[in-house]
Amino acid sequence: MCGIVGYIGAQDASEVLVEGLKTLEYRGYDSAGVAILAEGGLDRRRAEGKLRNLSKRLKEAPLAGTLGIGHTRWATHGKPNETNAHPHRAGGVAVVHNGIIENYAALRQELQADGAVFTSETDTEVVAHLVSHFRAQGLDLQASVAASIERLEGAYAIAVVDEAYPDEFIAARESSPLILALGDDENLVASDLPAVLAHTRKVVFLQDGDLVRVTRGEAQIFAEGALVERPVKRVDWSPAAAQKGGYKHFMLKEIFEQPRAVTDTLTGRLGRGGEVHLEHFDLEALKGIQHISLVACGTSWHAALVGRDLIESIAGIPVSVEYAHEYRYRRHIFGPGDAVIGISQSGETADTLAALGEVKARGVRVGAITNVMESAVARLSGDSLGVIYTHAGPEIGVASTKAFTTQMVSLHLLAVGIGRTLGTLTVEEATAELEALRHLPHWMEQALEGASQVAELAPWASEFDNYLFLGRGNLFPVALEGALKLKEISYIHAEGYAAGEMKHGPIALITEHFPTVALVGSDDLKAKVVSNIEELKARGGPVLIVASEGDEDLARIADQLVLVPEVPERLQPVIYSLPMQLLAYHVADFLGTDVDQPRNLAKSVTVE
Ligand code: G6P
Repeated sequence: MCGIVGYIGAQDASEVLVEGLKTLEYRGYDSAGVAILAEGGLDRRRAEGKLRNLSKRLKEAPLAGTLGIGHTRWATHGKPNETNAHPHRAGGVAVVHNGIIENYAALRQELQADGAVFTSETDTEVVAHLVSHFRAQGLDLQASVAASIERLEGAYAIAVVDEAYPDEFIAARESSPLILALGDDENLVASDLPAVLAHTRKVVFLQDGDLVRVTRGEAQIFAEGALVERPVKRVDWSPAAAQKGGYKHFMLKEIFEQPRAVTDTLTGRLGRGGEVHLEHFDLEALKGIQHISLVACGTSWHAALVGRDLIESIAGIPVSVEYAHEYRYRRHIFGPGDAVIGISQSGETADTLAALGEVKARGVRVGAITNVMESAVARLSGDSLGVIYTHAGPEIGVASTKAFTTQMVSLHLLAVGIGRTLGTLTVEEATAELEALRHLPHWMEQALEGASQVAELAPWASEFDNYLFLGRGNLFPVALEGALKLKEISYIHAEGYAAGEMKHGPIALITEHFPTVALVGSDDLKAKVVSNIEELKARGGPVLIVASEGDEDLARIADQLVLVPEVPERLQPVIYSLPMQLLAYHVADFLGTDVDQPRNLAKSVTVE
């Protein structure tokens, strides 16, 4: 996720900005830049890659000045290169931005028609041109930024400097975090706390719709054009705690970040009339498709299992799910109606990349679902079907959480997109699917709130050495993922099973020392899973049931009962994943393991 820092004071701004950006490195980035207002006017330095590249540029060609804005970019629109690095400029204006401008394509066309010349592929550059456009009409900087954001749809936190205003800068936010930090004769804005803690502990958490005019001596906050007061908070977090947003671990932060991450996955993609906009994916190229193989490893493979159900039930196309490491060594019989889609959070997993590469070489259409722009898997698929970026933002915890849920949501979008392209889904059906997806972040928030009781289960749940996780239908992959999460970070042995398979073997293990986590959906298969639970209880096995609100009566057969909001059946996997992640997290934390970096595991496995 991109990082923003803005500074005005008495110190050398480029130094302050680079130091601030360094504290945001944990967010992940692929280029960086600063724009500084000096006596000679506004100038910027930008560099691809790490901050040390930017520092080198600044050393070779320093920028002296005490007002500036800086940015670390995690690519979402356009390649991670210097041209696309922020700040973006138009005339005397420079802008840094976090988030996604949904209507940037329309704005870009409009501004181009008006004579604006664009130099990058980013959505951000429209903001610079908009502000410059209003400045040219005679509005002052603050009014120009206010008029510009009126035109923006989507999520943003921005900071703007103008060479005609050497004593102020303007920042604003909508659905993207931004804080204002108040120092002594210096003030800052930043996308996250660590960037300002070296200067001050006095901060204001800006709210959606806020616009702030920052000078050396003061900061004025405006909401809907009127001056407003916002509480000034004192922050006592250490810089390390601040990086985790006050959460004990990155994994916990990422679990709670999921409603936001899924919002980003959906942003700009839900069209009116049931269409799905997948910017880098060619849905039309799927015409004539008869079969799709989803290829992945680990958690991404579990997302693929959920994806199979979504694509088959929504688009009516048969889907196979394959482990990439197995798939690459099998002999495949392809027909003209085949397509292969790789799912990889990192986009660098060696097996997934090799599997896709081999089928592509045989002339089969390939596509990718990944979180990392321009990753190897994305590049490989770019000139074939293309890529669906999950937009989860960088995931730091090794155990995947938000990458998983955003993969499932991306697959849901793909399923609706295929259904509409092939005509197997009516406009009404597609609209209903997208409407449900629109509500998903809200349901996720509710589920996270309700599942906070999971923390209290940790002492009980940590007593056991083995676990069975059961689910049916689209909750079977969630049972697999729940078991994987638990074993990855708590080192407790856990197996996920399809509930119907229990009687064919695993039931032999059940004793009062062998618990089961049972996922009970509010679907047609519910009664069958409940019967499976009865069989476990009859053998003395402890059971933790996760069910939907309205199923409180299941308490009679549960040792522990966790309830999640009742949601449309196709959204159950996302919602039920949340208590699974929290269970694994709290058990691991209770046992004192290294939650964010569990032993023997790597975030991205680039060897076979
Ligand atoms: C590693 C990670 C897992 C991940 C798997 C596949 O094993 O620890 O969390 O699910 O690789 O990674 P990918 O980046 O391809 O999704």
